[in-house]
Amino acid sequence: MCGIVGYLGHRKSKSILIEGLKRLEYRGYDSAGLAMLVNGKLKLARSVGRVAMLEERLEQEGGFDGTIGVCHTRWATHGGVTELNAHPHKDDRHGLVVVHNGIIENYAALKTYLQEKGHVFTSETDTEVISMLISELYEGDLEKAVQAALREVTGAYAICVMCEKEPDTLVVARKGSPLLVGVGNGEYVVASDAAAIIAHTSQAFMLDDYNVVKITPSGFHTTDIHNTVVTPKISQLEIDLEQIELGEYSHFMLKEIFEQPKALRACMSGRLDTREGRVVLGGIGSFGKEMTKAKRVVFTAQGTALHAAMIGRYFFEDVAKVPSTWEYASEFRYRNPIVEENTVVVAVSQSGETADTLAALHEAKERGALALGVVNVVGSSIARTTDAGVYLRVGPEIGVASTKAFVGQVCALAQLGLFMARRRLMSAYDCTKFMQHMEALPEKIETILGQADRIKKITERYIERENWLFLGRGYNYPTALEGALKLKEISYIHAEGMPAAEMKHGPIALINEGLPAVFIANRGKQYEKVMSNIQEVRSRGGHVIAVATEGDQHIKNYCHDVIYIPDVIEPLSPMLTVIPLQLMAYYAAVARGHDVDKPRNLAKSVTVE
Ligand code: AGP
Repeated sequence: MCGIVGYLGHRKSKSILIEGLKRLEYRGYDSAGLAMLVNGKLKLARSVGRVAMLEERLEQEGGFDGTIGVCHTRWATHGGVTELNAHPHKDDRHGLVVVHNGIIENYAALKTYLQEKGHVFTSETDTEVISMLISELYEGDLEKAVQAALREVTGAYAICVMCEKEPDTLVVARKGSPLLVGVGNGEYVVASDAAAIIAHTSQAFMLDDYNVVKITPSGFHTTDIHNTVVTPKISQLEIDLEQIELGEYSHFMLKEIFEQPKALRACMSGRLDTREGRVVLGGIGSFGKEMTKAKRVVFTAQGTALHAAMIGRYFFEDVAKVPSTWEYASEFRYRNPIVEENTVVVAVSQSGETADTLAALHEAKERGALALGVVNVVGSSIARTTDAGVYLRVGPEIGVASTKAFVGQVCALAQLGLFMARRRLMSAYDCTKFMQHMEALPEKIETILGQADRIKKITERYIERENWLFLGRGYNYPTALEGALKLKEISYIHAEGMPAAEMKHGPIALINEGLPAVFIANRGKQYEKVMSNIQEVRSRGGHVIAVATEGDQHIKNYCHDVIYIPDVIEPLSPMLTVIPLQLMAYYAAVARGHDVDKPRNLAKSVTVE
């Protein structure tokens, strides 16, 4: 995904654009660029690398002191990471520029058509096709030209368009990729997410698919791509600056790991009615009957969210007693899935913008499923597509490696599971007992976080090792996958997660002297089995790091390192066992000198297929 910021108002726009872009840099950081209309003339600067490089370029060139501009930070999809492929992309006729987040699927055919019309392309991107197409269709009205162009494209887009011939106009549009308009006092800030807007205004609206908004100093006007007038709903943004500031932390990932006790409290706040023995989920309320009648629940997501979804599957079968499965969204959407009557599909997503998860949700809805969402970003595309859902309420997650959102997803899924269980076989008494265990989790996480320095020392002993294994059973098999993903995506160490029993079916061949094997070995139904697996690794020279339950002295005899966590009932254990794994990944990445919050090749949300 990419980050877009636009400004139109009475203030000089450069610092507003650059500061806003820095707040969106987690969305993609291969290259960046900015265009501005200065006394009606277009100025453009682009650079490979971070926004700071663009800032330097702007200082070197000077003259960027206009009050209307657009800028972009890129995660490359079409075309390499080069200055020519960086946005904004300019047309070749009208002094018109476009910044874009998304993918234009029919860009090749359009490019051929436009080349035949004499347009000369300079980049490999699909975005340049949009700028040339608007240019081709421009007849003195930028809004109309944008509408006409968007009627021709297929794919996903969030775009900001500016043109020398209409120097006091911004035209923005959206389909599939998020775009918000912040409405200030005589000024407008357009951005891919609220983090770039909140410093200037808390009043904003999210564009709906096919919306086109024309912004001028006298106001804004919203239509669809067929020029039908639309009335957007301006609402109060729900984030504040403190949530998106680094504070005293060295990385957002560390801040968000340490925010998890507070995040869990927020996720549970007002939802656990321990007096009545029930979970209160306002967002689901009117679908209680469908939840009761559900014959099957399908969880679908990608990445970390999928690991949470897998835990949800264990929880729903174990606690709510409803047949459940999980699916990679990218597989579900193309598998021609059979969705029987009374099926509930639950899409899990932090950003609410993951293209495959959104597509899987559409697929499930078209096949008659009740489509629920477990999402963090309010008003995101997935949230708006579902029939109902549960917001995580863990606050904005900036670090590319998801941490507090994972724990929030598992917590929200447990609440949804209890919501369903109470409509089926669970008594009010048992539900209250469960919820009391949940209420104790934040303090238990604080206990684990108190061991951060010790976990750092343990991790640093293994950072030269290029292959790690993560193993767990039951609820903690998905947690083992999550631990492996965290390590991979920020330290670039190869790691594989798997069910502990699976090791003997091949991966055990990987065990050599000193190979780090992280076992999730907290007290539970399969503890003895995990102990056997630990010994199988030890007997082949592997070094075992175990996550174990406080007071377990037995396990110390079989492991090189033991990280203790407070006792917890098994269905809730992933919210504790994952904490040491998050910290290990973080300290490994720092020790290896990587940019923890912006790992190479990654972006915070994958809004393209
Ligand atoms: C998590 O650390 C990764 N950055 C990635 O796997 C992420 O979880 C995945 O892309 C899904 O994103 P979502 O939760 O926003 O849908």
